[in-house]
Amino acid sequence: MIELRSVSKEFPGGRKALDDVSLTFAAGTVTAILGPSGAGKSTLLRCINGLETPTAGGITVNGIEVSPRKLREIRREVGMVFQHFNLVPRLNALTNVLTGSLSRVPMLLSLFYAFPRDEIRRAEHHLASVGLAEHAWQRVDRLSGGQQQRVAIARCLLQQPKVILADEPVASLDPETSREVMQILVRAATENQMALVVNLHQVDIALEFCDRIVGLRHGQVVIDDLAENLTSEKLQSLYGQS
Ligand SMILES: Nc1ncnc2c1ncn2[C@@H]1O[C@H](COP(=O)(O)OP(=O)(O)O)[C@@H](O)[C@H]1O
Ligand SMILES: [Mg+2]
Repeated sequence: MIELRSVSKEFPGGRKALDDVSLTFAAGTVTAILGPSGAGKSTLLRCINGLETPTAGGITVNGIEVSPRKLREIRREVGMVFQHFNLVPRLNALTNVLTGSLSRVPMLLSLFYAFPRDEIRRAEHHLASVGLAEHAWQRVDRLSGGQQQRVAIARCLLQQPKVILADEPVASLDPETSREVMQILVRAATENQMALVVNLHQVDIALEFCDRIVGLRHGQVVIDDLAENLTSEKLQSLYGQS
């Protein structure tokens, strides 16, 4: 579903954020990207959805080459989940979810938040699937962090992407809520045969919820293994000195 071929990304004046990264992510799989701060985890996700352009190598998503000309097509295939939810604070949960359908709804309608009846039903369905049926009409800034992230996941599902990229989705949540949110995210992605790639800094959560672990260090892939094969030595080499 996602293929990176020898991808490098160098920022002007900086060290390489990604250094010759080749990875594939299949439909229906859940992969955690681990690594110290600055390892290139966010840059990896941003390259996959076209927010950053690699300085070398190529990326395809669902067979589409990621390039500035194909951005609209790519954005339809890729759903994003962020650490800080990126919701519209003063709108209710249902309307926030409906913004996930903007690529399908005519511009004029969306300007007035007037969505077709069947889109509204689908949004309600996804809100129910993340356990928020009762909160559809509540302003999202009155919801807890965990509830807000579930709204963001429902918004992502409405978009029907082939791929979900989640950048530190539970970094702002307490441990118990983190597990709830991860469970919902992983279940939704696997049920819908999406490829889920999730940047995490919590190793325990990665091991608990993800099939595969990719370790990044100085922009290079230093671990790529099933979660069950990961040893503490391998982890130490990922986070250790120098
Ligand atoms: N827009 C940018 N301009 C310059 N340097 C950047 C930019 N984005 C990221 N970097 C650098 O690239 C490296 C990787 O960053 P990032 O992908 O954010 O790492 P991580 O998400 O693993 O913490 C870091 O050294 C960071 O400073
Ligand atoms: Mg990051």
